[in-house]
Amino acid sequence: MARKKIALIGAGMIGGTLAHLAAKKEMGDIVLFDIAEGIPQGKALDLSQCGPIEGFDARITGTNDYKDIAGADVVIVTAGVPRKPGMSRDDLLGINLKVMKAVGDGIKANAPDAFVICITNPLDAMVWALREFSGLPHEKVVGMAGVLDSARFATFLAWEFGVSVRDVNAFVLGGHGDTMVPVTSYTTISGIPVNDLAKIRGIAPEKLDEIVKRTRGGGGEIVALLKTGSAYYAPATSAIAMAEAYLGDQKRILPCAAYVDGKYGLDGLYVGVPAVIGAGGIEDIVEIELSDEEKSNLKVSTDAVVELLDACKAMDESLK
Ligand code: APR
Repeated sequence: MARKKIALIGAGMIGGTLAHLAAKKEMGDIVLFDIAEGIPQGKALDLSQCGPIEGFDARITGTNDYKDIAGADVVIVTAGVPRKPGMSRDDLLGINLKVMKAVGDGIKANAPDAFVICITNPLDAMVWALREFSGLPHEKVVGMAGVLDSARFATFLAWEFGVSVRDVNAFVLGGHGDTMVPVTSYTTISGIPVNDLAKIRGIAPEKLDEIVKRTRGGGGEIVALLKTGSAYYAPATSAIAMAEAYLGDQKRILPCAAYVDGKYGLDGLYVGVPAVIGAGGIEDIVEIELSDEEKSNLKVSTDAVVELLDACKAMDESLK
């Protein structure tokens, strides 16, 4: 059987980490694409030379030509620019929207059967725009946010409770940003609701509120420390888990920025929800029951996403 093909659009910090992880896991052959000449080729060469040491045969190549992503099974998109000091939200939106247009065209022409995972920020708007520009079915285009956000939530909970991260099942809904909704009522530690275990362990509700707040600002905390970039190890790991769920038809329920039309009272937009990932892409969206407070938090979050979509539509006629 021919090896799978993984195309990575954007060979920056996340793109390079994705290539390394995908190669180590022998997920398939890897094509790194970037507009910057030399970067994808250089990283591909460097990463290929890990092969003899780590023992992987995955072939890693770098390119500036979309034709080389032809027939990719999975495409992971990190192309774009990060927000720099002095740049407004709309400046960033405008630049990355143009990038999504170019990437969408490239995917449409060369890899229309791929499962596409978008990581570029602002995520919920960029994944929506990428789907519009590429014209792929909604179930084949998804955004990576919830896996990362819930991993951050789980990490902080494990530290506070003094338990293994493996036993924490954390749950996050909504947009990727300050308005995301970490849902403690569906978060468990070894099956025990986190609020119950907090009582048993004498952990104050305020402590859990602090963890929720830290999770919401999880990306910003890392940007403030790094100063010259944003997180890349955990974002890459998160997208790889989603790609593996698709390639292995695992039917995992993962929090993803998926297209929701009807469920959660939403009307055709991408937002973080629990989604089943299998060979069909996003095979189902699980609609869980929410408390009134959770519902109103989700509304705040989705309103922020709708505002971004309106801004995108105002910037690009073809999105109206
Ligand atoms: N086509 C292809 N690649 C592009 C394009 C384009 N039109 N525009 C920019 N790029 C490339 C850049 O050349 C760079 O190599 O995208 C890459 C982005 O890499 P980094 O700047 O290192 O960013 P990274 O940390 O990988 O994050 C990528 O993910 O989490 C989000 O906010 C983050 O939007 C950002 C994205």
